[in-house]
Amino acid sequence: MRILITGVCGMLGMDLWRQLEAKHELYGMDIKKNNNISLTGDKFQQLDITDMNKTYEVITKVNPQLVIHTAAYTDVDGCETNKELAFRVNMLGTRNIALACQRFDAALLYISSDFVFDGKKGCPYVELDLTKPLSVYGKSKYYGELYVQKLLTKFYIVRTSWLYGKEGKNFVDTITNLAKEKEYLEVVNDQIGSPTYTKDLAAAIEKLITFSQSENSGSYGIWHITNSEYCSWYDFAREIVNQLKIKDNNLKVKEIKPIKSEKLNRPAKRPEFSSLNNFCWNLEGWDKLRSWKEALSDYLQ
Ligand SMILES: NC(=O)c1ccc[n+]([C@@H]2O[C@H](COP(=O)([O-])OP(=O)(O)OC[C@H]3O[C@@H](n4cnc5c(N)ncnc54)[C@H](OP(=O)(O)O)[C@@H]3O)[C@@H](O)[C@H]2O)c1
Repeated sequence: MRILITGVCGMLGMDLWRQLEAKHELYGMDIKKNNNISLTGDKFQQLDITDMNKTYEVITKVNPQLVIHTAAYTDVDGCETNKELAFRVNMLGTRNIALACQRFDAALLYISSDFVFDGKKGCPYVELDLTKPLSVYGKSKYYGELYVQKLLTKFYIVRTSWLYGKEGKNFVDTITNLAKEKEYLEVVNDQIGSPTYTKDLAAAIEKLITFSQSENSGSYGIWHITNSEYCSWYDFAREIVNQLKIKDNNLKVKEIKPIKSEKLNRPAKRPEFSSLNNFCWNLEGWDKLRSWKEALSDYLQ
């Protein structure tokens, strides 16, 4: 397939590129240039998705069969203070991509988030659960979903959560660095979710689009895709340190203390329990994604 990946220089974008490179004709676009990836010539376009004309221009030139849209303003607290930017990028930027897909009859796979839920359900969310975002980031991603659903018939909305991967600022790397520098860490234990390795998500997305192609029907719709099982940020931090200790006995950290979110006083409200159930994935009878602990171990290798 001829596939265009937006946000290709981001954490998920880069793993998608690596995952799909061998079997597909790939093009990438991002607001910034990144030297870590061999994206040269007409394979890469520098583009701000809030610029509608330029977005049309790039999509016309590539004429993709599928656009995988990962580009987003992902700083959850930053979105609270830069509300307009959040809605411009995550909502209107997504609308621009969806309109271009509509005009050129391309399918769109939009990456969305567990933050579209309020976290009050008490057990993992399935694709059919009612959305109720709490933060500007969550709302802007949700309105992006609405544009995709209203404008297109050939769409996938893939909701995922707590991403970490090789090319981005992420929780695993933060805890790894802190564990080398500090004896005591404090981590919140009142937010529960499903940590997800971008490499596993990229492989799952490949499976989804390949299935669509082979069935010649298109497995369009909303999908929840995360690594299996869930934990709190505190549990996640403890597991990271435990796994690191197996290989490295020079870690400085002695204790991780659980704390409540209110102590951090962060601008954006976060859902308390936003683990996603890969309900539709499991209904298809596909192999479950590995547990977050196994994925973490692979990442730390
Ligand atoms: N990270 C998570 O835990 C998480 C969880 C659930 C869902 N998601 C969703 O998953 C997707 C990928 O996340 P990620 O963590 O890989 O994000 P990321 O590393 O921040 O990558 C997003 C990329 O999009 C670029 N971008 C930002 N604004 C743009 C614009 N106006 N036009 C074009 N490109 C723009 C970013 O550039 P800059 O770096 O210069 O901004 C970055 O290279 C996002 O849609 C996000 O909402 C993420």
